[in-house]
Amino acid sequence: LDIKTLRAITGGVTTIDPGYKNTGSCESAITFLNGEEGILRYRGYSIEELADKADFLEVAYLLIFGELPTKDQLSKFHEDIKAQSHVDEDVKKILDGFPKSAHPMGVLSSLTSALVAFNPSSVNVDSEEEMYNAIVRILAKFPVLTAWAYRKRVGLPLEYGDASLGYVENFLKMMFKKPNSNYVPKKDIVAAFDKLLILHADHEQNCSTSTVRMVGSSHAGLFVSISAGIAALWGPLHGGANQAVIEMLEAIKEDGGDTKKFMAKAKDKNDPFRLMGFGHRVYKNFDPRAKIIKKAADEVLNDLGIDDPVLDIAIALEKEALEDQYFVDRKLYPNVDFYSGIIYRALGIPVEMFTPMFALGRLPGWIAQWREMRLRKEPIGRPRQVYIGENLRPFKETEER
Ligand code: ACO
Repeated sequence: LDIKTLRAITGGVTTIDPGYKNTGSCESAITFLNGEEGILRYRGYSIEELADKADFLEVAYLLIFGELPTKDQLSKFHEDIKAQSHVDEDVKKILDGFPKSAHPMGVLSSLTSALVAFNPSSVNVDSEEEMYNAIVRILAKFPVLTAWAYRKRVGLPLEYGDASLGYVENFLKMMFKKPNSNYVPKKDIVAAFDKLLILHADHEQNCSTSTVRMVGSSHAGLFVSISAGIAALWGPLHGGANQAVIEMLEAIKEDGGDTKKFMAKAKDKNDPFRLMGFGHRVYKNFDPRAKIIKKAADEVLNDLGIDDPVLDIAIALEKEALEDQYFVDRKLYPNVDFYSGIIYRALGIPVEMFTPMFALGRLPGWIAQWREMRLRKEPIGRPRQVYIGENLRPFKETEER
């Protein structure tokens, strides 16, 4: 039977798969992930090699366009980004309208969406050239918005970048430069941060990426698709976990440091508490990013001479979880977010900026997935459901209810 006849006979077959645990939403040539063996590759290159040898902008190019850039391609890409790194002054007024206490993820999602009004040509992107222009614009402006969201929160005047610097170096300068200072980020800090961004750059069809593809599938435009992705990433079960991990570790410290007590809470099915930074939908043996990041965390803390008691709690939790039957049975291992927060903290990044850092890292992945979806001319995303509500019933007048 062909699909049309089958549908005519059955009225259509609908599979139910909450959380899409076993449902592929698309074919993709961007990121390969084998959760059983802990393998992650971008466009065929292992995450270990990329984190060791490439820089973030190179990886962004690779993810988006499919190949590692030549020297000339990379330099043109960077020049094109620099040329677009101004953000309209009126966007500052929108930022001004937020209370200082606003969570930077909400601010970022709103400002990214607002950028459409100032860059209307970024919406209808039918040619590859129009797509390229939209991509370069968002890659250029997003770090500015992220740094602004931070500066607003800590009460620093807004900064534009420094065109003589690399992409990541420039971002760190926009974040941390104090007025009238000559702040230039240290090389080893830039390198550690670059590595973190690479490790976050794509992760196939996760919640935020699927959101970007879904919104983009209605041809709503790149910037709003990214804005929706930021909203999805904000949640504590996804990117928000990096903030939640540090808050949890601090809470354990404040409580006297009894990790066993919190392990017991995490296992108690009547307690909603979960060990943040543990478990992953796909990785069931280890998260390869966590391995790299754990090493980087050790190096950064050593380099900066930081002895962080929160790290001792993290190490104790990890050890206990690896030996605990509940965690072993459910294959719950530390994920990338378990360690990233420790590095961000050591670098002086405040806790509510952790998830925006993740968003900056994930930006190339969102763009690559959006571009692939558009180039493959994928249909609009529109899942079905199985209706479980009331059958037809007569309307009741107000006095009868
Ligand atoms: N602590 C305690 N128990 C857990 C945890 C945890 N962190 N994670 C999962 N479990 C348990 C569940 O209670 C469930 O137990 P049960 O089988 O007895 O009912 C079992 O393990 C399976 O968990 P699910 O929630 O069904 O797994 P799912 O794949 O839906 O969720 C998720 C994955 C969301 C990552 C989950 O492990 C979690 O909430 N972890 C904590 C939050 C976190 O670290 N998120 C970051 C993810 S990585 C990222 O976004 C970059």
